[in-house]
Amino acid sequence: MDKVRWGLVSTANINRALIPAIRASERGELVAVSSRSQESADAYAAKWDIPQAFASYEAMLDSDEVDAVYIGLPNHLHAEWSIYALEHGKHVLCEKPFALTLDEVDAMIAASERTGNVLAEAFMYRHHPQTKLIKEMVENGRFGEITVLNGLFSFAMGDPATNVRMKPEWGGGAMWDVGVYPMSYMQNLMGGTPERVFATQWVGESGVDEVFAGQMAYANGVIGQFSCGFRSPFQTYIEIVGTEGRLLIERPFVNPQDGKVYFTDPDGKKKKVKMPKKELYLGEVEDMHAAILDGQPQFLTLTETRNHVKTALALYQSANTGQPVTL
Ligand SMILES: NC(=O)c1ccc[n+]([C@@H]2O[C@H](COP(=O)([O-])OP(=O)(O)OC[C@H]3O[C@@H](n4cnc5c(N)ncnc54)[C@H](OP(=O)(O)O)[C@@H]3O)[C@@H](O)[C@H]2O)c1
Repeated sequence: MDKVRWGLVSTANINRALIPAIRASERGELVAVSSRSQESADAYAAKWDIPQAFASYEAMLDSDEVDAVYIGLPNHLHAEWSIYALEHGKHVLCEKPFALTLDEVDAMIAASERTGNVLAEAFMYRHHPQTKLIKEMVENGRFGEITVLNGLFSFAMGDPATNVRMKPEWGGGAMWDVGVYPMSYMQNLMGGTPERVFATQWVGESGVDEVFAGQMAYANGVIGQFSCGFRSPFQTYIEIVGTEGRLLIERPFVNPQDGKVYFTDPDGKKKKVKMPKKELYLGEVEDMHAAILDGQPQFLTLTETRNHVKTALALYQSANTGQPVTL
């Protein structure tokens, strides 16, 4: 096999980001889409020029037509369909949040180990060269000793009546949807989970957290804090505060090329820092190809992915009880 044949599990909105990335990659081709009806699969295949359309997820996953699948289903279906795909001989790139309980994550990892098929969380920004360079700068002491990390990811929900993010029983809520970005960014910089978390949420009539704020205390004394929500215009940033300066990343997660990165030195002098550019979703696709075709270790490990879910659950536990939670 010298090319990976990709299939899409569902006609999710987010596919529109993956399709160009698969097509831009050197060793991947998009060969199929599956949906819950033939009509919907056919219409999608025609719109996006995809050769094969399957009338159910099972039909595509049971077939020999695809090697790897992209799972962009609502959050509560990630574990079930990832495991089904792995057990039917497919490699799996599954959207964030990977799953909603640690038991689900463990069952997904066990299915990958049992079958030998690759399983990865689709956290695209982790593969972007901007994220990698900033982590290197932190590790090289560019900002001195880190003291505080701040972050935000919010957007205004345009279709609250129908959006899958507003259903509590489907893993809806701002923390699962967008809070996981700043939380995982901080985990990446700190190299692991916090020791202790505390969180506060605003739950709307929908029953999900529509605004959420979390604090994370790390063993090395660093404090990470972030907020997220569905009730204010699109806003993101990460701020890294150290003893030797401060870095502000305007677009750490989405469309990094549309934002700037600023360094402020201890005297308050601010300058723009040049960042490398790359198509945002290409890295996670190329990483799957390296793991499948070359047997390379995955860049974003399943241990890191498990820790994303572990910390998100601790933050929700804190928000629900009003108490700090020790991990
Ligand atoms: N990494 C990123 O940049 C990014 C961005 C956005 C979203 N996401 C993640 O991607 C996932 C999907 O988000 P999305 O906004 O693309 O979702 P969406 O547009 O609502 O699509 C979800 C798809 O799931 C399928 N589905 C299966 N059972 C369903 C049910 N009971 N009700 C509704 N749909 C059902 C539907 O496809 P069929 O009708 O074809 O079966 C639907 O198109 C989420 O996990 C989200 O966190 C990631």
